[in-house]
Amino acid sequence: MKKMIVSPSVLSADLADLGNECRRLRDSGADWIHCDVMDGSFVPNITFGMPVVKDMRKYVDIPLDVHLMIDKPERYISQFADAGADLITVHLEACTNVRATLRLIRDCGCKAGLSVKPATSLQYIEQYKDCLDMLLIMSVEPGFGGQKFMEQTYRRLREARKIVGDKVLLQVDGGVNLTNAPLLAEAGADVLVAGSAVFNATDMSEAIRKLKG
Ligand code: DX5
Ligand code: ZN
Repeated sequence: MKKMIVSPSVLSADLADLGNECRRLRDSGADWIHCDVMDGSFVPNITFGMPVVKDMRKYVDIPLDVHLMIDKPERYISQFADAGADLITVHLEACTNVRATLRLIRDCGCKAGLSVKPATSLQYIEQYKDCLDMLLIMSVEPGFGGQKFMEQTYRRLREARKIVGDKVLLQVDGGVNLTNAPLLAEAGADVLVAGSAVFNATDMSEAIRKLKG
């Protein structure tokens, strides 16, 4: 059986102690660290930007998986790459030119991810599959941690797999927990993002191990 990649979101971490939280995630078995960047415009919340990612990079060597929930993300790709991002995911709904933005991410030496909100048709993805390393299927409305998982996600994962084929990783983000993780694996997910399920667990290592399946 293929191994699930677990990318815990630091949105649920103690953001004033982020370096130690990153180390705690690494020591608990996290494969990647998911960084939720929000601009108060594309989503109604504000988190952190490039300087914080740059400082996280000093604490851990595991891949930093940067999820940009910002308008016109093309403005900041090279800066996030310079800060130490390994994967950069932009929203289809936020880009001025999706193809050019995905190319720019790769030209900066990062893996290119594209994300879709729950109501966005997956049919738009087909035209970009050649310039994609990862497709992020949002399973909540982006903006906040701790929301309820949307059940439509299983169907969307199966549909996404048919569209992008086997070479593109499928990531799920929002409301992922120990109960839905096995069902997401079965529906074809390669990468699970989890914030509250990891940080609210009494035993972080155990939570990550169980998410891996
Ligand atoms: C939501 C973010 C998610 C969120 C996940 O906009 O993209 O990464 O932090 O948090 P949980 O797992 O608590 O839903
Ligand atoms: Zn995210």
